[in-house]
Amino acid sequence: MARKIAAGNWKMNFTLQQAETFINDFNKESWPADVEVMFAVPFPYLMALKAIARPGITIAAQNCSDHEEGAYTGEVSAAMLASAGISHVILGHSERRMYYQDSTTVLKDKVDLALAHELVPVFCCGEPLEVRNEGKHFDLVRSQLQESLFHLTGEALGKIVIAYEPVWAIGTGVTASPEQAQEMHAYIREVFAEAYGVSIAQQLPILYGGSVKASNAQSLFSQADVNGGLVGGASLITSEFLQITNSF
Ligand code: PGA
Repeated sequence: MARKIAAGNWKMNFTLQQAETFINDFNKESWPADVEVMFAVPFPYLMALKAIARPGITIAAQNCSDHEEGAYTGEVSAAMLASAGISHVILGHSERRMYYQDSTTVLKDKVDLALAHELVPVFCCGEPLEVRNEGKHFDLVRSQLQESLFHLTGEALGKIVIAYEPVWAIGTGVTASPEQAQEMHAYIREVFAEAYGVSIAQQLPILYGGSVKASNAQSLFSQADVNGGLVGGASLITSEFLQITNSF
């Protein structure tokens, strides 16, 4: 059975002061011991938030460079994150794919660098609406996974977290139905089972993302192949996200 994860993706929101207040408030709350709680935060806040987050709250990065080091102004490497004590990094978010040209080959390099520096990649995949409307969403998700992850050994793959985030559900208020989420999650697990065997596939946490809220988290997380959520907007509101962490 895969572990349960409630991950917040703060994107480009909050000042440092707001972020610290949020974590200080969240430190006082409680959720089931078997649920991993994670916040992916802006780069400049990583160390400050890691220093105040209580054990059991993981502070993650939202991206890293596809280069090891060197003349890449404005970039942050996997090695830098690791040296700052960071353990997890989101890779392949659809906003990165769309606005910053994170191609499947760039993402393959990012995944390799993250793993080389012992960071856990939270690897996002998911289709835009037009692809779903054409009935090609399974093929697209398969190729996203194949092109960026299938070169990995089973041991390396076993360290990854997958997030299925249909682009049409991100920030739109439109959530995939629990049935749509389950259908794709089961497919993703099957794709990994074919390539890596059933036991690795069963251990793989597959999170759903796209307008997860307190009001729909339980129906999504109760699906057999949904192991938690990657939550944008609702992770900026303490009470909403707390309820999500208690929805397993
Ligand atoms: P949302 O974002 O919950 O605001 O739809 C999810 C994400 O982009 O990870």
